[in-house]
Amino acid sequence: MSKMKVGSHKRSKEDLVDFIKKLELQALETAEERLPLYLEVELKDAELILDVGCGPGMVTRDIARLTKGKVIAIDGSEDMIKVAKDILKVYKNVELRVGDAENLSFNDNMFDVVTCNLLLMWAENPQQVVKEMARVTKSGGNVLASLEPDYGGKLHWPENPKIDPIFAGKAIKARGGDPHIGRKLRLLFVRAGLKTKVGIGNNRIWNCKEDKAYYLHARDFYVKTLKDAGLSQKEIDKWEYNYLKSLDEGVQLNFFPQFYAIGKKP
Ligand SMILES: C[S@@+](CC[C@H](N)C(=O)[O-])C[C@H]1O[C@@H](n2cnc3c(N)ncnc32)[C@H](O)[C@@H]1O
Repeated sequence: MSKMKVGSHKRSKEDLVDFIKKLELQALETAEERLPLYLEVELKDAELILDVGCGPGMVTRDIARLTKGKVIAIDGSEDMIKVAKDILKVYKNVELRVGDAENLSFNDNMFDVVTCNLLLMWAENPQQVVKEMARVTKSGGNVLASLEPDYGGKLHWPENPKIDPIFAGKAIKARGGDPHIGRKLRLLFVRAGLKTKVGIGNNRIWNCKEDKAYYLHARDFYVKTLKDAGLSQKEIDKWEYNYLKSLDEGVQLNFFPQFYAIGKKP
């Protein structure tokens, strides 16, 4: 594994724990958006599935539950694979490996379905990742990229002109991600030679109770993000007070589109 340049590697151990907590809740909260996509790519009857950039494995667990087939899941981060091994230990149909999404160590035309969730935003070279995913997919098989956000479409109210831009892209860029990956999915899939369909997976706006539960679960992650962006503790406290107040009053609105792409290999 010579050139692992993956998102998780830019994080300290402490950051990683906060990031994993965020991914855990995200997997739970987005299950209803991903399930129809898994049905569409015929996951249930697939024999061999590859989940690329599996992270701590909560999304891989959904995939393993929904198929009769075998799931191989890879991630570039050894730490992530360690966590995933623990989370998935009772799933006998899952095999976990450290591996590079830009250079998949599998033969051409091996898998019925190849999936990734929230990977392309963090990949150094997303085009190379999709090309590789297409290469290892069988002819007639499907490649699925789910939950790839586009923070250019982020809506948040009441607004905070200093903080909003941090969560609408700046923080992701600082960690090496592409906050506008959503709009690029079609191009990435078409250029990989796939017969492509794109859509927005999240067509529901969360209520304030859901937004608050999500925030509190991943609070350390958000606070650290603001600290890294140069805010003082006083500024963060003030922001948090107003943020929680508007959630408790039930008046806050948060939305950003999360795109998906399904590509059939000719
Ligand atoms: C945001 S996490 C998503 C994890 C998981 N798919 C989920 O939805 O919970 C992105 C993951 O992609 C992995 N990753 C990024 N670039 C990669 C690459 N080139 N090869 C393998 N894994 C990569 C990171 O290590 C990280 O675990």
